[in-house]
Amino acid sequence: MKLCIDKALSADVLSKYEEKVKKATLMLENGSGKGNDFLGWLHLPSSISDEELNAIQTVADRLKKSCDVVVVAGIGGSYLGAKAVISALSNSFVNKAENAPEILFAGNNISEDYLAELMDYLSDKKFGIINISKSGTTTETALAFRLLKTQLETQMGKEEAKQRIVAITDATKGALRKLSTQEGYDTFVIPDNVGGRFSVLTAVGLLPIATAGYDICQLVKGAVDMEKSCSDEVATKENPVSVYAIVRNELYAQGKKIEILVNYHPKLHYLSEWWKQLYGESEGKDGKGIFPASVDFTTDLHSMGQWIQDGERTIFETVISIASPNKKVVIPVDEENLDGLNFLAGKRVDEVNKMAELGTQLAHVDGGVPNLRIEIPTLDAYNIGQLIYFFEKACGVSGYILDVNPFDQPGVEAYKKNMFALLEKPGYEAETAAIKSRI
Ligand code: PA5
Repeated sequence: MKLCIDKALSADVLSKYEEKVKKATLMLENGSGKGNDFLGWLHLPSSISDEELNAIQTVADRLKKSCDVVVVAGIGGSYLGAKAVISALSNSFVNKAENAPEILFAGNNISEDYLAELMDYLSDKKFGIINISKSGTTTETALAFRLLKTQLETQMGKEEAKQRIVAITDATKGALRKLSTQEGYDTFVIPDNVGGRFSVLTAVGLLPIATAGYDICQLVKGAVDMEKSCSDEVATKENPVSVYAIVRNELYAQGKKIEILVNYHPKLHYLSEWWKQLYGESEGKDGKGIFPASVDFTTDLHSMGQWIQDGERTIFETVISIASPNKKVVIPVDEENLDGLNFLAGKRVDEVNKMAELGTQLAHVDGGVPNLRIEIPTLDAYNIGQLIYFFEKACGVSGYILDVNPFDQPGVEAYKKNMFALLEKPGYEAETAAIKSRI
């Protein structure tokens, strides 16, 4: 992975932040910063044992053999990492890898149509469920799981259903742990000291990814190598995590309040969704924080391109660029050339994509949009592992430079409190009375 930054943001900026970035990195390393009880992700890649990976692979292989479809129920940090990796590695049109079940996601919304259509789709299929919830009581996930579990038991019988349900939850606490013990489900643990949005390299991400047929050892290897490349022993300007954390904080200080993560391959759409949660929940607090947004180019150049080129100058872009695509398509000659595209004949489609990328970067920089560029050689499990760890560590460092607690998310409780009050959940009587007087 290579990180290239805008020339305008060179040596001066890096030295200006040298002390701050070192302090932030040290706070992570020695656990002296805010939220220090949630640092279990920091050395997760290098500490995952072969035994743990084998245990995950064994259960994944069992689900692969017995299921045509596996539904992953989870929300936020309990699904976005797996969704990001699986989407990035999957064929855009065939919804499953060879010899692997189709992976569907649920429990990440409360749409009745979505659930009805999912249940209808599953009605003639051999399916399984990976239910992921640290608390075990998240409404979206618990609701979907209740419906899917009932359907699975009806379709397969209670005993067979138990073999097809895997729970990933807290080691000892919570409703899902209790149910799993009662029913005898296979389980994996979400460590206490790993928050949802930092959990993709635990069973939370690894089990769905392995079940989808992708190589979790390569994913972890990429993360391990990145852990080394951005360790606190690496000099600031050679350390991609330090550079990224510095540049985004400097741009924020200069009034660039929005960071847009850009890709030129639609398979990366959900990597951006995962990144948005990681940075949004980690930094958006205490009245501060860059707003993380994302676009898929060139698609969104035809919708958001105008705003980015010419709108309020409060944005910067971080572009994820893939050096070589996995497939090859050459543009053919057309004798009539009515579309005027013969000047491209013989070129690969990716050459056009790359010139669109370069042309856009130059145009946006000219238009006052600073550009950072992250290049990976190709889209595979190893390089995605690198990106995941890079973004996680940079998020911790960047959050500490911003002086927030990057590991809590107190703001997400507000909607839940109102929803429960409106639904008259037992225990919310006072809130129910208060909210009803407002509407
Ligand atoms: O990052 C987080 O902590 C959140 O996105 C949670 O993962 C999400 O709210 C789901 O919570 P739980 O795993 O308890 O169901």
